[in-house]
Amino acid sequence: MANAERFIVQGLEGKRTLEGELQVLGAKNAVLPLLASAILFKDGIELSNVPLNEDVKRISEILEKMGVVVTVSNPGKLSINTKSIDEKGTIDRELAKKIRASIFLSGPALARFGRVTFPKPGGCVIGARPIDLFIENYEKMGATITTEGDEYVVTTDGKLKGCHIFFPLQSVSATETFLMAAVLAKGKTILENVACEPEVVALAEYLNACGAKIEGAGSSTITITGTGLLSSKGEIAQVIPDRIEAASFLILGALSAKQLKITHCRPSDMRVVIELLRKAGVDIEEGKNSLTVRNNPDKPTQYQGFSFRTHEYPGVPTDIQPQLATFLTQAVGESPVFETIFEGRLNYTTELVRMGANILICDPHRAIVKGPTPLEAEQIDAPDIRAGFAYIIAALLAKGYTTIRNIYYIDRGHEAIESRLQAIGVDIRRVADTPIV
Ligand code: UD1
Repeated sequence: MANAERFIVQGLEGKRTLEGELQVLGAKNAVLPLLASAILFKDGIELSNVPLNEDVKRISEILEKMGVVVTVSNPGKLSINTKSIDEKGTIDRELAKKIRASIFLSGPALARFGRVTFPKPGGCVIGARPIDLFIENYEKMGATITTEGDEYVVTTDGKLKGCHIFFPLQSVSATETFLMAAVLAKGKTILENVACEPEVVALAEYLNACGAKIEGAGSSTITITGTGLLSSKGEIAQVIPDRIEAASFLILGALSAKQLKITHCRPSDMRVVIELLRKAGVDIEEGKNSLTVRNNPDKPTQYQGFSFRTHEYPGVPTDIQPQLATFLTQAVGESPVFETIFEGRLNYTTELVRMGANILICDPHRAIVKGPTPLEAEQIDAPDIRAGFAYIIAALLAKGYTTIRNIYYIDRGHEAIESRLQAIGVDIRRVADTPIV
């Protein structure tokens, strides 16, 4: 979905002059499953450190259509009251089609109401993104699946049944969805070969603090003993810092800042990115909850290229692949990039090539970035959240004013990004698209 706004960014032509601090907000990928988990609660939940990005708004709207009351109080605080939740278990078709994370709601809704209707979800255009793991394993937990038009209708004869699920691949959303569904299932559920991402751990820890019995989150096997509806008893879900936003800021700083301090982050969640950038020659100072990147603008370090492959946590996140590849356009040498998770996630490189990057696409999963190359301003269209941020970095590197369209994608993952970047000296403006008459 495109909105009618664009960013215009003035390039620094390789100068590293930005200066200041950027605060990392709560993680998009942590807050979305937490919002969905509200369905498991008798009364509701409260969250803090919530990023008010477009994805959070969409999931909140879907919950509201289900009769849930969502209130935004102080900045970053959200309370969700589920006392008048509608028992029908219908996930709004139009809203759900806009956002992949709507699939999270299907697990808790099915577990609570014994039925759920949802469409195949939409989201970033980065590959086929099937939902076979959900469909197969709802059946394994005793549900029956039919389709009506483009919607799935999943029903049970009462409760989901605990069972042993082995996932053939590690899926973040399937891990989190089944972890939530199993909280209200009958008996014990064992999930094997699950995702170990920090967001999975954060979800399990919050649910456990509210009465769930989940063991093993962060390892490859999670065991859940069904408990029934949860009660928050005043326990607030503090959304963990967004490790992807933090890593994106780090890359931006390495390429364009004299000194940039990235605050409110957890360096331990982004070890692999820090190590790769250090290997390339980036000067990074690590604090407990901050990272500072430094450059001498008069004598900028010539960074060295490196090869990397995306991998499940704690490997290189696929969500940081476009930003790292953009970094490599400014590093010396031939740097092979292997995108192992999504087959459509190198498409964004065509726009970088138009800007002057030297990137050879070998096949849908592999590219070779040859650097360093100067970049020129262009009109480019953001294809997804992360490539959208990579385009902001590329625009900063370029000569001239770059126009980035489709910025709805960037807004999906980063709240008020332009004002935050303006504060460190970036010349970035949000302007309305001119209507075609
Ligand atoms: C989550 C993240 C997203 C990140 C991705 C991989 C959220 C809200 N989003 O997405 O930012 O890019 O993890 O780290 O947390 N798959 C199947 N069948 C399924 C489900 C997934 O084949 O039923 C495949 C996918 O196509 C992909 C792989 O599993 O190849 C991993 O995807 P998955 O971890 O499920 O991604 P998401 O949870 O959608």
